[in-house]
Formats: sequence, structure tokens, C-alpha cells
Amino acid sequence: MKLISFATKFLHYLPSELSHSIALNGLKILYNLGILRYFIGNQVSLKNDVNNLSNLQEKLKMPKLSNRLGFAAGLDKNGEYIDCLASLGVGFIEVGTVTPRPQKGNAKPRIFRNRKDKSILNRLGFNNKGVDKLVKRLKTRKTNIVIGVSLGKNFDTPNELAYKDYLECMEKVYEFSDYLAVNISSPNTKGLRALSEKAVLGKLLIEIKNKQRSLANTFGYKPIFIKLSPDEDSRGMKDICDLIQEHNIDGIISTNTTIQHEDEKGRGGISGSPLFKLSTEKLIEARKLIGSDLPIIASGGVMNAQDFYEKITSGADLVQIYSGFIFEGPKLVKDVLNKN
Ligand SMILES: Cc1cc2nc3c(=O)[nH]c(=O)nc-3n(C[C@H](O)[C@H](O)[C@H](O)COP(=O)(O)O)c2cc1C
Repeated sequence: MKLISFATKFLHYLPSELSHSIALNGLKILYNLGILRYFIGNQVSLKNDVNNLSNLQEKLKMPKLSNRLGFAAGLDKNGEYIDCLASLGVGFIEVGTVTPRPQKGNAKPRIFRNRKDKSILNRLGFNNKGVDKLVKRLKTRKTNIVIGVSLGKNFDTPNELAYKDYLECMEKVYEFSDYLAVNISSPNTKGLRALSEKAVLGKLLIEIKNKQRSLANTFGYKPIFIKLSPDEDSRGMKDICDLIQEHNIDGIISTNTTIQHEDEKGRGGISGSPLFKLSTEKLIEARKLIGSDLPIIASGGVMNAQDFYEKITSGADLVQIYSGFIFEGPKLVKDVLNKN
């Protein structure tokens, strides 16, 4: 583990997108050689952190869930690292965000790390290899852990037709995933957040719910989560939560990155430590609005085991990490699983 922690720190001196790719490919090579466990040690405990796991599995409609810690969307956009990430001990991985057609995303540089305040600014814009490539990866994965797929729309699909992109991705990945996340909260695709406006979201949820019903007949029931923006005001939060209940959506992911920052690198969403407070406030607000029965997956600024615990006590059922993993490496997974 010490060697991996050293490598994680060293990689921070390289450009962010390059080091991200080196780190994940490095882990994958060690995993494929069968020696990753010698580097991370056997100390990653698979002990589940939940007293009554079967209640949680039932509430979330995820019978395979083994613990409450997972990787957030965007870390493995194309499902290329599922097996090696699963081997670190997490209970679930959300892959994507995927779009129907492959797309390059915004111009580089588009990821910036700030080591001082442990934050990441990104304006990637759904760079991904398209849904067909992702399906191939999902089909050939070896791990049996819970896999969520984050669904998006191509940058050049107008909002009036966005529902078609979500449905196309949903149809293709449904059979091979355990839950679906509808991403209407990324700040890096022009106009995407407008999909969370009341009238627009209502229509989208009707389409998604109908598609879920028909796919469930063939492939069984897979829950659908809506990923919220931390920049919603209280009116927006209430509208979205009302619609989620009205249309029997299965849960919420709280939250995506925030545009409330003055980072010198310009536009984009901020994640990591500075997001923790805001995303936890939105989590508490969402929990109040929807009551205790609806599942919430927390995302935003979890950098250590204490942060994980605070998300749970603030109303989360599951907790995702992304930036914390970039700064701390696999040690963060071990710390959370062993201390909770
Ligand atoms: C580089 C980067 C890429 C991301 N890509 C996606 C994405 O494709 N889809 C998505 O829903 N969220 C994406 N996110 C947001 C994360 O899933 C997560 O919600 C957010 O970073 C907050 O968690 P954190 O503070 O633990 O990083 C991305 C975040 C980062 C830093």
C-alpha cells in the first residue's frame, strides 16, 4: 500500500488527465498480472459495514450489494476498469456518463487539480466512447458487484430530443447493469441542467419510467436514480423531489459538482473538499423533502472515513467517492471500509 500511496502522490505532479489515465492503467496492469493485492495488501476488508444488510439491499433493490461505499460516475466512463476497481473492495461502481454516440468532450486542458484545498475543477463535457463500447465492457466484466450506469445525452442533441438519447442508452445497458443514474446535473454540457426544470423533467421522467416498465418485463426490475446538482435552489429541490415521488423514481444521487466557485482556471464543476458542505446540505434537504423510504446515494467531498460517516448520518444510504480517491488512492477505500 505504501508504494501505491507514494505513486499516487508522485502522479499529482503530472497533468491531471494524463495522471488519471496512468494511475487507472497502472492499477489495471497490476490487477491483470494478479499482483495488485500484493501492493494494496490484504488489508482491504470485505467485511460489510452494514448491520442489517438485507434491509438495505431490499430498500435499494440491489440484492448483490455488499457494502455502502462505491465509485462515483466519471472515474470509469467507458467501463474499462471495472474488475480492477472492484478488487479494491468497494460495494458498487457507477460507470459512465455514457452517451449514444462517442464524443471527444471539451477542449484540453479540462481537468485541474488543486492539491492545497484537495479539489478538482473539471469541464470534460461527457467525453466517452459511446454506449455500444460500454455495453461490450459490461458484458465481459468478471466481477459480480453492483454496477450502475450513468446516462447522458450527446452535446449536439437538442434538449427537446434529449429523452431519445437517455432512452437509447437505457435500452442498451439495462440488461447488463444493476441500477441506472439519469445525469441531468453535469455543468459541462451546454443546457443540460435545464432538463431539471419542472415541466421538462416531468416529461423526461414519464418516458424513462415507461421504458423501465417495459424493460423490467424482460430483464427484471432495475432502480433508477436522478443525480442532482448542488446548485439547485430550494424551489428547484422541491420541484425535483415532488416529481421523483410523483413518477415513482427509485432514488436520488446527491450531488454532482458545483459551479459556485471562483477558480482561476475558469469554468467547470468543482469537486472534492470544498464541495463537502454544500453537497451534504443538499443531501439533508433532499432527505427532508422525500422522507426516509426513498434511497439516497451521497456524492461530494468524501475525503476520509469521517466524511463517509457524516454522509450516512446526514441521511445517505450509500456513499460514492471520486476526488478523494484521486488524492488518497486505494488507501481511502481501505480506511472507510475498515473504520465503519
Ligand atoms: C474528472 C471528473 C469527471 C466526472 N465525470 C462525471 C460524469 O461523467 N458523470 C457524472 O454524473 N458525474 C461526474 N463527475 C462527478 C462525480 O461523479 C461526483 O459526483 C463529484 O465529483 C463529487 O464527488 P467527489 O467530491 O467525491 O469528487 C465527475 C467528476 C470529476 C472530478
